[in-house]
Amino acid sequence: MQRSRIKDAKDKIGEEISLSGWVDVRRDHGKLIFLDLRDASGKIQMVALPSHADAHKIAGTLRSEWVIEVTGKVNARPERMVNVNEANGKIELEILTIKILNEAETPPFDVRGDGRDIGEDVRLKYRYLDLRRPRLQQNVRMRDKIITFFREYMHANDFVEIETPIMMKGTPEGSREYVVPSRLENGKFYVLPQSPQQFKQLSMVAGFEKYFQIARCFRDEDTRGDRQPEFTQLDYEMSFITQEEVLAFTEKMFIELVSKLYPQKKITTTPFPRITYKESIEKYASDKPDLRGDKNNPDELAFAWIVDFPMFEKDKEGNIAAAHHPFCSIKEEDVEKFMKGEDLFSIRANSYDLVLNGYELSSGSIRIHKQDMQKRVFELLGISEEEQQKKFAHMLEAFKYGTPPHGGFAPGIDRIVMILENEPNIREVIAFPKTGEGRDLMMNAPSEIDTKHLKELGIQIKK
Ligand code: AMO
Repeated sequence: MQRSRIKDAKDKIGEEISLSGWVDVRRDHGKLIFLDLRDASGKIQMVALPSHADAHKIAGTLRSEWVIEVTGKVNARPERMVNVNEANGKIELEILTIKILNEAETPPFDVRGDGRDIGEDVRLKYRYLDLRRPRLQQNVRMRDKIITFFREYMHANDFVEIETPIMMKGTPEGSREYVVPSRLENGKFYVLPQSPQQFKQLSMVAGFEKYFQIARCFRDEDTRGDRQPEFTQLDYEMSFITQEEVLAFTEKMFIELVSKLYPQKKITTTPFPRITYKESIEKYASDKPDLRGDKNNPDELAFAWIVDFPMFEKDKEGNIAAAHHPFCSIKEEDVEKFMKGEDLFSIRANSYDLVLNGYELSSGSIRIHKQDMQKRVFELLGISEEEQQKKFAHMLEAFKYGTPPHGGFAPGIDRIVMILENEPNIREVIAFPKTGEGRDLMMNAPSEIDTKHLKELGIQIKK
């Protein structure tokens, strides 16, 4: 018999069907054995009666998480047994046959609860079991829906999804990069992209006009609740675009996302309030203020735009650095100061952030598209001519060949899902995340590689 999915069983009252899945729980009630069966589509209560002797005998041996195939008859539950809170609360499967497909050891933790009281290390070590719990199933499935929404939205607006390389050249954009040693050129390295920033700008040079990508990014920085070493952005870039247009496009998209996928949630203020960086620091002592009226309301979403970020800031060592990245254009009013190299920390960029409930959701800017302006930024950042050529020749060259004005944005998908799903950190919305120390406890990465491999790469480990 062809396998049915559990979610479809309620439409098959009176029919004989076959189901496959995991035993969620077994309850023995005297001669009756109740089994909850779970598959990817839902859960169903089943009952093994002594009158079907073979099935009844097997049912008595089943334990949670065993994988079985059953055939049975879908019956309407007697009135007093109906549970209106369950999708299949009106039906029950009367088991006719059971085949054990695989047994399971007792899992290291209960996979049915929300898991919040279980140590995270053990949850991450056995992530494939942790993911069985309904909360994580929901997070991963809603993440897929959110990504699908974005992808469809982008395509409906004429964006082209372009895959950009994961192995690229080291060009400091702000964070420390992960490096990949080259086997064919010992002593040389690729790095993993912190974001597709340069490739998306080069796609504008290439004439695509509207680029997007569900882009994996890698940053070797200290991990926090809202940060992972690898994470995902909805990265986009447009040519012949103004800041106003990027903000309007983005705002509309987020409002539609919420109304389509989270209709129970309320956006505090629309249009989203706009606050300059300066005002935000003065008023909220933060560039990601939490503007919710009721911070305990899980259904409140307070979006806000923070605009006019400074172009430059002092880094931890007190050196001048790009506040966002070196590709942001300068606000018209501040160009004179910029050219003169005066009062650098007061110079503002055409850059903007979207914040939500106290988190930075996204950053973006209108970019520099002229070579002389780009070189001036590098100069003010203290990057020598030689160094500019070494690290950014591809960008500087490209700007010589008819680069259109362009700008974009890059909302962090993990943070979006975290907030919409009311989770306390992004690890809960990433299927296979790393720990705070950047470890994958399930695969045990990072790990050593063998001497032969090291030798091929021309690498010697200092003990
Ligand atoms: P930025 O570095 O601000 O901008 O990143 C944009 C958004 O990506 C998310 N994000 C992260 N999420 C999880 N873990 C991390 N370690 C992490 N780092 C960043 C955040 C953040 O707001 N190329 C530019 C964008 C542009 O200018 O278009 C960029 O990457 O949600």
